[in-house]
Amino acid sequence: MANILGIGNATLDIINTVDDYPAEDDEVRSIAQRIVRGGNVTNTLVVLSQLGHNCTWGGVCVNDLFGQRIIADLDNYAINTDYCKLELQGSVPTSYVTLNKRNGSRTIIHHRNLSEYSFTDFKTIDIANFDWIHFEGRNIIEIAKMLAEIQKKHPNIPISLEVEKPRSNIDKLFSQVDFLLFSKIFAKNYTSTNNAALFLQNIRKLSTSNLICAWGTGGAYALDIADNISHSNAHPPLQIIDTLGAGDTFNAGIIDSMCNQQDLVTALENACKLAGKKCGQLGFKGLGLK
Ligand code: FRU
Repeated sequence: MANILGIGNATLDIINTVDDYPAEDDEVRSIAQRIVRGGNVTNTLVVLSQLGHNCTWGGVCVNDLFGQRIIADLDNYAINTDYCKLELQGSVPTSYVTLNKRNGSRTIIHHRNLSEYSFTDFKTIDIANFDWIHFEGRNIIEIAKMLAEIQKKHPNIPISLEVEKPRSNIDKLFSQVDFLLFSKIFAKNYTSTNNAALFLQNIRKLSTSNLICAWGTGGAYALDIADNISHSNAHPPLQIIDTLGAGDTFNAGIIDSMCNQQDLVTALENACKLAGKKCGQLGFKGLGLK
């Protein structure tokens, strides 16, 4: 069991399940609706907590009914929210998600009107208490300062960075962490290649860290620090129910394995299995059960 700090987003997800994805300008009825906490880092922490780790969240929230719902959900998963910054301006980030029952695909319209977690907020955390620190690659300038602070004061704490969306200058962070967790979307945008191994080899020019890329139905790839490439097949469930947060769950699988001193090949396999399990169920509850 490790003490894990996650810095990043919590959102309110309004998820409408539909029989099939609507065409533009259609009017359709949803067959089910769920309103739940979401957000990449908090999704990852919710999975890690169920896998037995002690998790702490650093991020921004608002003290309104939506924000209280988010904090209550994190409390429910025993995630420490002491370092959450309660912002007086703005609103809880909201995702309007259309979940297609036919294939489990999720289409997200995200609205954000809230400040990001800053270096000043981060400095209130006693990072000496943590065995692992995971970042969602968002506000690059502030994260760069946080990474520099960890490297200066606690260079032995492993750091992972999720690189999901293309963001200006995000590659400036690549040399500052131990594990880079890329999404397929990022890889395709960054190198316009359809080849994950090639993408990772390109990234090697920018970073000497462990490089990992989830590849959806193609499983996942890793390039370790000795430049060995490895691959795991995907482990899809019999029926795909819900893919929302599959990438966040994959990241939790990698961090879980590394905190349990497993090697990268085992970590890839573990992460693909966990992400597959997630796709076979609604939400994240129960993902810690073997
Ligand atoms: C899933 C997710 C949702 C959230 C959205 C934010 O990965 O974290 O829970 O609404 O992405 O981009």
